[in-house]
Amino acid sequence: MADGIYVMRLESPEIARAARPAHFVNVQTDDGLSPFLRRPLSILNTDVEAGWIEIYYDVIGPGTERLETAVAGESLDLIGPLGTAFEPPTPHTLLVGGGVGIVPLAFLAWHSPNERNAMTLLFGAATERRMPDLARIAPGDLKTILATDDGSVAHHGFITELIEQHLQKETTILTCGPHRMMARVAEIAEASGVGCYASLENHMACGFGACVGCVVEYKDHEREDRRYRRVCIEGPVVNAHEIVW
Ligand SMILES: Cc1cc2nc3c(=O)[nH]c(=O)nc-3n(C[C@H](O)[C@H](O)[C@H](O)COP(=O)(O)OP(=O)(O)OC[C@H]3O[C@@H](n4cnc5c(N)ncnc54)[C@H](O)[C@@H]3O)c2cc1C
Ligand code: FES
Repeated sequence: MADGIYVMRLESPEIARAARPAHFVNVQTDDGLSPFLRRPLSILNTDVEAGWIEIYYDVIGPGTERLETAVAGESLDLIGPLGTAFEPPTPHTLLVGGGVGIVPLAFLAWHSPNERNAMTLLFGAATERRMPDLARIAPGDLKTILATDDGSVAHHGFITELIEQHLQKETTILTCGPHRMMARVAEIAEASGVGCYASLENHMACGFGACVGCVVEYKDHEREDRRYRRVCIEGPVVNAHEIVW
């Protein structure tokens, strides 16, 4: 799809039927004991009739390197779909993605054919080589604005610089990407008085609530306190205004 980024289609009728935007699968990538832990990957798209799901991954370490070498016909052990999902879009939905954070946002766009004309995708990548062919991974009729950090293609700068000019009265922002990008998106949403939900990508282990290895700190307004939530089952989609960024 881009430099170091791949898509894999997996036959999995049960997951295809149950998957909703921002759900993820926890993938066993080892062929022995290393890497021991499963790797969480969001679902890019599904075809319920054909019974497949697609995942989209950036090769950064042993787990994703193992996926890169998988061959057609091989079997992979997945747990999923896991986590919370994005709610159906509001009158106007601004999707703000960075890097592999495009995945749950693209799935939402595929999943919402009737609401797509009320969505705008703002998507940023580090440089042109890391910019995927969006025509391949997101619906062609999705209004899309691009940026690269180094200006090698499209707007020169961070995608968050373009948010304010695309806000409408009843916009809700949905975001996924690097932590610092999402923190900035939440800050802009708060200052502009619009709702904002983020799909977090914390490190994980079990993926189903048992190990408490994925917690995020949030503000508990009722108790006037800070508490923790497990991103794997109380997320990955969370109200961005509640998170301690
Ligand atoms: C809910 C969820 C959905 C995700 N969806 C996708 C997706 O669709 N596509 C995709 O490419 N990746 C996604 N990720 C991130 C992905 O899980 C990691 O990139 C992957 O586990 C890396 O495994 P690895 O063995 O290749 O690399 P590792 O050796 O585990 O990691 C390589 C380097 O990246 C760092 N790293 C690993 N995981 C993370 C993380 N979650 N956050 C920050 N730094 C990390 C490590 O500290 C290390 O420095 C998602 C994560 C979560 C929690
Ligand atoms: S990854 Fe184990 S509790 Fe979330």
